[in-house]
Amino acid sequence: MNPFHYGSIVIGKDFCGRESLIKELQQHIDSCQNVVTYGERRVGKTSLIFEAIQRKKTYRVLRLDLMNIKSIDTLCRKFLYALGTMEQESGFFERFIKSIPSLRPTLSLDPVTGMPMISLDSTVPLTESSLQEIFGLIKKAHKNKRLIVVIDEFQAMLDIKDSHSAIAELRAQVQHAPEIPFIFAGSIRHQMEEIFTSHDSPFFKAAIPLSVSPLSFSEFAPFLLKRFRSGKRIVSEEQMTNIFSLAGEITGDVQQFCEALWATTEPGDEIGQSHIGAAIELLISREVLSFQSILAKLTSNQVRVLSALAAIGGEKPTAKKFMKHADSRNASAVLKSLGRLAQIKIIYQTDQGWKFMNPVFRLYVLQYFP
Ligand SMILES: Nc1ncnc2c1ncn2[C@@H]1O[C@H](COP(=O)(O)OP(=O)(O)O)[C@@H](O)[C@H]1O
Ligand SMILES: [Mg+2]
Repeated sequence: MNPFHYGSIVIGKDFCGRESLIKELQQHIDSCQNVVTYGERRVGKTSLIFEAIQRKKTYRVLRLDLMNIKSIDTLCRKFLYALGTMEQESGFFERFIKSIPSLRPTLSLDPVTGMPMISLDSTVPLTESSLQEIFGLIKKAHKNKRLIVVIDEFQAMLDIKDSHSAIAELRAQVQHAPEIPFIFAGSIRHQMEEIFTSHDSPFFKAAIPLSVSPLSFSEFAPFLLKRFRSGKRIVSEEQMTNIFSLAGEITGDVQQFCEALWATTEPGDEIGQSHIGAAIELLISREVLSFQSILAKLTSNQVRVLSALAAIGGEKPTAKKFMKHADSRNASAVLKSLGRLAQIKIIYQTDQGWKFMNPVFRLYVLQYFP
């Protein structure tokens, strides 16, 4: 079995390090403080939250992910499905169903798990006042058994039509439930900051900030090396450094590279450059169709800029070296291309400059558009 996991959250024996952050988060939970976690995508925010909660064992979790919500109606439905799932796990499902007669819930069986599933009448529109009712249900659930509310990809609140008033209403409800700890997470840093740190946002200073950086080499490498050793692969510290750099040091991406390296090697192998090359080929082959279709939609200028970013890095995209590689004499044109590439979510901007969203795509561009 491949011991490296990426893509979904990791907890328990698959969770590495972060002892002090876990303690800090647990203390906030115990004192009913709301927390907002900041950090780039795939650094390990969601895993940290669930590991911290799981180790405490005394709480139930109401968890929802706001990805793709577009209206207050879908926001309310996410809350209700999350409540249904949680109550089902606690054995209070029937009672929960009876508590929301106005939403005309019906029960069906999930075809995959065989568990009862809740469906709500989609012709009943849910509004801001429904949110108030929903929070009443959450408080009632909390009285039955203590709970924590985890709202992930929270920046999607900004995509709701009339988002300011939706955010204000949610804020008011959260404020009226001081007995329940709320944890907010999200992967688009500047949007999360817009919600929690701009003065005119209803959530201004509504939660204690917790910054989650990628796991450091010194904390993460020994954990990964031990897993390679358990499968009799010999990896030197130098090769491990190489893997971290290929993965842009991002926790989840490092695991993804290790997974591929494991998959392309055998017990007894001493990992060298050729093994790493084979792992990169495997990673590229899994995504090549999507890479080709992305590139087909770009202008030749955008492809040149992408190639410069892959080869040189995005700290100083208007410096001579970058412009030369991008085959451009016009700084504003380069910046325009970068803006467009960010808009279609191929790259993103960080404090250390522009980066590829997907490190495997960077390697593909390096290979085919050097
Ligand atoms: N503490 C950790 N130990 C080991 N791997 C981790 C840890 N945290 C995150 N990862 C890796 O990163 C991936 C993404 O983690 P996740 O918590 O979903 O990140 P985020 O919520 O920041 O996008 C996981 O699938 C796993 O491969
Ligand atoms: Mg997450």
